[in-house]
Amino acid sequence: MKRNKITIIGAGNVGATAAHLAAVRGLGDIVLLDIIDGVPQGKALDMQEAGPVLGFDCGIAGTNSYEDTENSDIVVITAGLPRKPGMTRDDLLEKNTAIVKSVTENVTRLSPDSFIIVVTNPLDAMAYVAKEVSGFPRNRVVGMAGALDSARLKAFIAMELGVSVEDVQALVMGGHGDNMLPLIRYSTVSGIPVTKLIPKDRLDPIVQRARDGGAEILKLLKTGSAYYAPSAAIVQMVESILKDRKKIISCSVYLEGEYGINGYYVGVPVKLGGSGVEEIIEIELREDERAQFDRSVNDVMTLIDGIKL
Ligand code: APR
Repeated sequence: MKRNKITIIGAGNVGATAAHLAAVRGLGDIVLLDIIDGVPQGKALDMQEAGPVLGFDCGIAGTNSYEDTENSDIVVITAGLPRKPGMTRDDLLEKNTAIVKSVTENVTRLSPDSFIIVVTNPLDAMAYVAKEVSGFPRNRVVGMAGALDSARLKAFIAMELGVSVEDVQALVMGGHGDNMLPLIRYSTVSGIPVTKLIPKDRLDPIVQRARDGGAEILKLLKTGSAYYAPSAAIVQMVESILKDRKKIISCSVYLEGEYGINGYYVGVPVKLGGSGVEEIIEIELREDERAQFDRSVNDVMTLIDGIKL
């Protein structure tokens, strides 16, 4: 049996941590690419040297050359610039659009049958760039956001109740931004609705904390944004595709009429398996939930409409 090949573009905090986790999980041979000379090579070698202790055999190669990514099964794009003081959202949009565009051109030339998972922010907009530039069908280009936002909500519910995180189910939809929609009505602990276990005055701040999850970490770290939970969320998606696990995960996908939206990337629950996005699940939304979802979608539309490719 041939090992899977996973390429991760961007050897920064998120990319390198995802590479490490994917290796520990034995998901395949890993190629870590960055524009900075030495960093992907150094990090990959360091990880390789952890193999004998942690018990993984997969190869981890660090590189600055796209030729090494040839015939990848999955490409994860984390390359990009962080938002710096004084930089507007539009500046970031323009800079990261250029980066994601060039990365996508390079990886799709060498791995035309790959699945692409986009992580670079602004997430839904960058997933759109990757799809437009690659020309890949929508089942092969997804954005990672809902998996992370849902994980944060699950973690806070488990912390509140003092129960195992394994028993908590939670779903966050919409764009990866301030207006995302945590669907508390569909959250359960071992099948018991969370709304029956946590009073509303405790639940509301939990939901808000999940929404602000990225900002909370950024405020603490000061010099960078979150990467452990984002990397875990990436690896969950990679695993569901490579092992055809068909997990239901909220992902940013290109909608073609689902939820009444056409031609935009938005976070919705999908079945993620060996063919990538195998099904988009349309759940019923209450009027207030739909209004929140629409606000979030509007934010995404404004961003995507501002992209110049
Ligand atoms: N090609 C390859 N790598 C690039 C390119 C490029 N054109 N441009 C930048 N990079 C690399 C940088 O050199 C850096 O190593 O991308 C990496 C980004 O790493 P970090 O700055 O540490 O950012 P990180 O925290 O990993 O976040 C990456 O994921 O969650 C999102 O908002 C986050 O968009 C950001 C991305």
